[in-house]
Amino acid sequence: MTGYFLNRLILTNFRSYEKLRIDCEGKKTIIITGKNGAGKTNILEALSLLSISGPFRKAKLSQLGYISSSNKVFTISSNIINEEEQTSLGISYNYANKETNNYEDETSEKRTILANETSIFAQDLQNYIRIIWITPFMDRLFSEATGERRKFLDSLMSNFYKFYGTTLNQYNNLLKQRSKILKSNNKDDTWLSSIEEEIVSLGVQIGALRLDFEEKLNAILNDMDNNFPHIQIKITGVIEDKLRINKAVEVEEFYKQNLIDNRELFKYTFSPSVDGIHRSDFTAYNTDKQISTDQTSTGEQKSSVISIILAYSNLLYLYFNKYPLILIDEAPAHLDNLKMQSLYEELEKLPTQIWLTGILNEDFDYFKDKNSLYIHIDNSQIK
Ligand SMILES: Nc1ncnc2c1ncn2[C@@H]1O[C@H](COP(=O)(O)OP(=O)(O)OP(=O)(O)O)[C@@H](O)[C@H]1O
Ligand SMILES: [Mg+2]
Repeated sequence: MTGYFLNRLILTNFRSYEKLRIDCEGKKTIIITGKNGAGKTNILEALSLLSISGPFRKAKLSQLGYISSSNKVFTISSNIINEEEQTSLGISYNYANKETNNYEDETSEKRTILANETSIFAQDLQNYIRIIWITPFMDRLFSEATGERRKFLDSLMSNFYKFYGTTLNQYNNLLKQRSKILKSNNKDDTWLSSIEEEIVSLGVQIGALRLDFEEKLNAILNDMDNNFPHIQIKITGVIEDKLRINKAVEVEEFYKQNLIDNRELFKYTFSPSVDGIHRSDFTAYNTDKQISTDQTSTGEQKSSVISIILAYSNLLYLYFNKYPLILIDEAPAHLDNLKMQSLYEELEKLPTQIWLTGILNEDFDYFKDKNSLYIHIDNSQIK
């Protein structure tokens, strides 16, 4: 075994579930089917919260609690087997009085995480489990706005570089602080300069890591041999572009100057926004078709996302000797029969647990005689 396997998942007051228990001991593939609104995605979303970069849908934690519950705490508890080790991993969040608040306090957006009954930070989750996913939203990832692609890239990287997520949060918080100071009436130039210095240092670190990631992932993408498109990714952004041809210290100087210029400009424009790693993007080039992925069909775009996810799983295996647990919401959507079959074959080869959802049971016939668990959700199962 070189992946992660859940034995058990228990949801309490999560989304449409007041209580749900799934026992999946020893199962390799978990297939969840049911009608629209049955609660399939909700289950994968709960699992995504066990990852540093969850939840995978755009939602605040306060929106994830079961609306009709009187006890406003949701919990996700799981038991994970990873090699010979067992870990009980639990997430909880108190959503009392938070549904309608338009709060900005970031601490109220933090989950409580317990690993073997001990409280841990989100960035430590990867010591216990790594989870990656494909959601229907990602089918259009390459035609979507930049921000979504960057988020996808950042979430992959957060699971790869231990401090990437925290460094990025720090960077974004510093940018916010800088804007606040610029907009305030009593600007403290020394304070501003020290914040900008940190922005520059963290920004260049993040940019360099992105280039490192691009190189590592592309090497694996290049060696992939399956029925999914051959892809090469390219990260683009003012800092990353400069880092390709300049030394880090030179890029730092450039970044610093940008911020200084923006301070001057602010006097006239009142806009604190600057270019930087928070604006970067990535493109994916389909080398089979010699075309940019955003110009390919919907099914081809989903296949490209699958290529990236499969390559990324191999990357994690190469560096950490473990494949991640994989979630695919609406796995069969947009895929023709051959592609669907190929996807299932690739997933079956990976010695890690896979959770799939879809509307129809028959779309998952491939797994019938395999080590799988079928869960069909109808209203009677939703308590
Ligand atoms: N906080 C909440 N409390 C109670 N119910 C909720 C909450 N959030 C979402 N729901 C309900 O959960 C259901 C949606 O579940 P989910 O998105 O998992 O459906 P699905 O099975 O994936 O459907 P589809 O096939 O359309 O994707 C909706 O009926 C929605 O009203
Ligand atoms: Mg769904």
